[in-house]
Amino acid sequence: MNGYFLQVAARRRHLFSLLLALTLPFLPAPAQNQPHIEKKGGVAHLVVQGKPYLAIAGETGNSASGSAAYMESLWPRLRQLNLNTVLVPVSWEMVEPQEGTFDFSIVDALVRQARREGVKLSLLWFGSWKNMVSSYAPSWVKLNRERFPLLQDKNGGQIQMLSVFSEGNVAADARAFSAMMRHIREIDAAEQTVIMVQVENEVGYSFGERDWSDLARRAWKAPVPRELTDYLRKHRRDLIPEFRSHWESLGARTSGSWAGVFGDSPAGNEIFMSYYYAKYIGAVVAAGKKEYDIPMFANASIGRQDRKIATYPCGGPIPFVMDVWQCAAPQLDAISPDIYYGDFEGHCRAYTQKGNPLIIPETRGDEVGIGRALLAYAEHGALCFSPFGIEGYAGGPICDFYRDLSTLAPLMLEREPGMTMRAIMVDSDTPVKTLEMGKYRILCEFGHRGNQPAGEQVGYALILQAGEDSFYVYGKGVSLQFSLLERGKKNLVTGILECEEGCFENGAWKASRRLNGDQIMNDYSFDSAFLDGRSGNGLRFGRTGLQYVKLYHY
Ligand code: DGJ
Repeated sequence: MNGYFLQVAARRRHLFSLLLALTLPFLPAPAQNQPHIEKKGGVAHLVVQGKPYLAIAGETGNSASGSAAYMESLWPRLRQLNLNTVLVPVSWEMVEPQEGTFDFSIVDALVRQARREGVKLSLLWFGSWKNMVSSYAPSWVKLNRERFPLLQDKNGGQIQMLSVFSEGNVAADARAFSAMMRHIREIDAAEQTVIMVQVENEVGYSFGERDWSDLARRAWKAPVPRELTDYLRKHRRDLIPEFRSHWESLGARTSGSWAGVFGDSPAGNEIFMSYYYAKYIGAVVAAGKKEYDIPMFANASIGRQDRKIATYPCGGPIPFVMDVWQCAAPQLDAISPDIYYGDFEGHCRAYTQKGNPLIIPETRGDEVGIGRALLAYAEHGALCFSPFGIEGYAGGPICDFYRDLSTLAPLMLEREPGMTMRAIMVDSDTPVKTLEMGKYRILCEFGHRGNQPAGEQVGYALILQAGEDSFYVYGKGVSLQFSLLERGKKNLVTGILECEEGCFENGAWKASRRLNGDQIMNDYSFDSAFLDGRSGNGLRFGRTGLQYVKLYHY
């Protein structure tokens, strides 16, 4: 390009930027720039301000945002936790105290406080339901049962739950939610303090039961909507197995009444209620996303499935009805488990079926929780791990853990969960586990040489591949030994070439000391170690630490 054309092009660019600067504040942020979930090669990431983001999070108690001043009083504790994301409720009753009159001062305060603290927010929309009931609905909703009908039990009893079958209910909730999302877009699209929204909280009715109001009875008698029967037909092969076998056990019908297709039974009720909860929440989400399209998810109480009889709320987004939720609420970015009970990794696996991104909005934040956080992120690709009642964990071990995790997050975001990033947790019930990673089998033991660490409940390790034969390992209460999966004709044994203790500073490894001798001596039973391809040397973690190890073979 000659000089003249360059000058014209520069002038045009200048004019364009001027125009952009003038119009930008009035335009919604372009879709790809807003916080969103991106999936690449089966790995999902939250993307915030254009960069992958690991939500190292915690959820406050329910009434934390009952006033700006109360929320303010929590920050000294939240600060100690070193988290980067706070999940905090915003209630319908506070933002729409009178119908059509909105007051977003609590949202403004939360955003202002979070920005000052340098953390992101995931808001929890306590709209029509929170833990099944409708206690957070504004008084003008609660007091008008004609216009905002409740769910009824079999005997006509009114239950304090807005009925999912009422168009008036969903319209009112969606209106309020869309007003809030519009407001958030106006105040926050540029800065992106609010990165996700959970819509409603742990919805559902008593286990295995359905709504018996007139509206619900009518829906129950009507044919199963085409949308769902078409979905069943189209996705038959990849339906959730338990759901598919339930449907097939009743003849795999693709038309008919709810009782005919899914049975007049607890499971039939669950599918029926799930469809309508999902429709309702899908409509609320759609209204919000129309204003500001950031990741939105619905969470589930998954109950105590470790007991003989499951007790979770009927209609919530649990794995059995994942297909129903994906069909009826495709607007949702994820359905999410609140994991308090049962097989933690089993729940993670269940909630990563069908491409569902794993967001854990509620769980525990003690030592066991720390091990589980590593499993969630490194084995199951969690985007967010968030203990509930997080302010109560201030001063606990999670504070240092979250500080360490923040330094490792950039490395974790570059690695593939279950492949180049792995985690393991051991305890006195299962003190020895092995995992495979790249060329290696890694033997993980609780404590060191059969001695379990006094006073420790669990041991855990996060293993990040550094090179073909090198790893960064973050661990506590655990020792590791490496061997080759294929030892070859030479029957190669794996030893430690070099080992360092250190940390990451601004993304760069900083060794604090060289380790050798007792610090890498894990097993003096050389003969049996040799049979496994182990040298007897390995990594040892008593207290929490981060080590770099480079392996060799002889
Ligand atoms: C699960 C709910 O979703 C939370 O809001 C809170 O009530 C906790 N249970 C209490 O353990």
